Amino acid sequence: MARLVVVSNRVAVPKSGTRAGGLEVAVHAALKLNPGVWFGWSGRMAAKLETRTIEHDDTSYVLTDLHREDYNEYYNGFANSVLWPILHYRLDLAEFSRRDLSGYMRVNEHFAAELQKILRPDDIIWAHDYHLFPLAKALRERGFKNKIGFFLHTPFPPPEIITALPHHERIVTALCQYDLVGFQTEIDSANFCRYLETECNFHRNGDGYATGDRVVRVGAFPVGIETEPFKRLAHHAIRSPFVEGVLASLSGRAMIIGVDRLDYSKGINGRMEAYERFLEHHPEWHNNVSYLQITPKSRSTIHEYAEMERQVNETVGRINGNFAEAAWTPIRYVNRAHRRTALAGLYRASRAALVTPLRDGMNLVAKEYVAAQNEEDPGVLILSRFAGAAVECKPALLVNPFDADSVGDAIYRALSMPLEERRARHKALYEIIAANDISAWPKRFLDTLDGKGKPGAGGREPEGRSSGVSAIQRAAGAKRG
Ligand code: G6P
Repeated sequence: MARLVVVSNRVAVPKSGTRAGGLEVAVHAALKLNPGVWFGWSGRMAAKLETRTIEHDDTSYVLTDLHREDYNEYYNGFANSVLWPILHYRLDLAEFSRRDLSGYMRVNEHFAAELQKILRPDDIIWAHDYHLFPLAKALRERGFKNKIGFFLHTPFPPPEIITALPHHERIVTALCQYDLVGFQTEIDSANFCRYLETECNFHRNGDGYATGDRVVRVGAFPVGIETEPFKRLAHHAIRSPFVEGVLASLSGRAMIIGVDRLDYSKGINGRMEAYERFLEHHPEWHNNVSYLQITPKSRSTIHEYAEMERQVNETVGRINGNFAEAAWTPIRYVNRAHRRTALAGLYRASRAALVTPLRDGMNLVAKEYVAAQNEEDPGVLILSRFAGAAVECKPALLVNPFDADSVGDAIYRALSMPLEERRARHKALYEIIAANDISAWPKRFLDTLDGKGKPGAGGREPEGRSSGVSAIQRAAGAKRG
């Protein structure tokens, strides 16, 4: 089998045990199937750039440094202050500058130049995420004819939004130099296909799009999790001293959990306001529920992130100030990253999870929460209809995160949901996430890149709350874990 060379901005050298984000889960699955190289940024800034290799379990982690201005212009600038907000439908937050764009192009050239030193003619190259739109083009210009695939972990918005990106015809069109471009959902892939037709003059050609002699194939490949192993992890983790300590501190109160990077796309502030509405409307739940929001800080030097950090701190302070009692804190807000095992146990111990991004490529917290549940006494997933996971996870309580009242109602509904309905929803959800286990994901993508498979169907538009589960009944059962 040809060697797999994965390229992404962040490289997760195995060591930490903290929760892996979607990209890391996906790339690890790919390298497990097909060992090779994982190339990307070392996370370091230096005046003199070095590239070094760490060998671990059949995989070479090749890490390259960046200059400080690269970090400012490429990472903080074009990737995270322009592409990230636009891909999440937030034109209002995008701050474009030509200087940042040239830093973005320069880092892609640097990656291509470093890759040139290690690539072999038959390597399969797989680039990940919005940091690397122009990478295939930079490699093709260096003469590489290898199969090159690309997977976008974020949403891809309709052409009406993406065309507001200055120089989109240069940046987004560069994706056509990949042989296969994969997305999380069919909605994203359909948006990209429409962009190809309306902006790039590509026409449908079999299961791809073509112009001249260039053909790009496009498909949906929704990322999953290691469902069964995560379930086993949660089963053991709930008995850990850490989780037992958290449960003891709750003194029998129900727990609601949220786990997100501190990012405006996650809708953390709106979610807290929804919880506030719930507390206003349901005083019987005061002192009977505790909401734990675990939120490691992220990209803190970018203005919008610093601003949202301030806003969330203020909202937590207001809600706790208004509702707390001497022996009860309504929201526990924690900025520390937690280990995967600890989170698995906390998911299992929680009566409900709030996963309410305003827009999200997939969101694996939703799937992990489902996998972690005790099927005899499962908790309830409250999921934004704007997360990619909502396409698959229809038996969750699907909500509109822009409507705090209805999210507040969903919290009440989740906490008072009868055992029978919780079990039925959980069973349906578990079957869905077990059928899309991450182990199958890299094979589907790589087979398609290799011409062996057709680009995937990744599900359909979420349809609201339809789930085939019986209507809400009273009589909640306590969660035993
Ligand atoms: C998202 C992106 C990833 C990124 C991760 C963490 O999941 O899709 O590409 O690595 O966020 O963000 P950071 O900027 O810390 O790498």
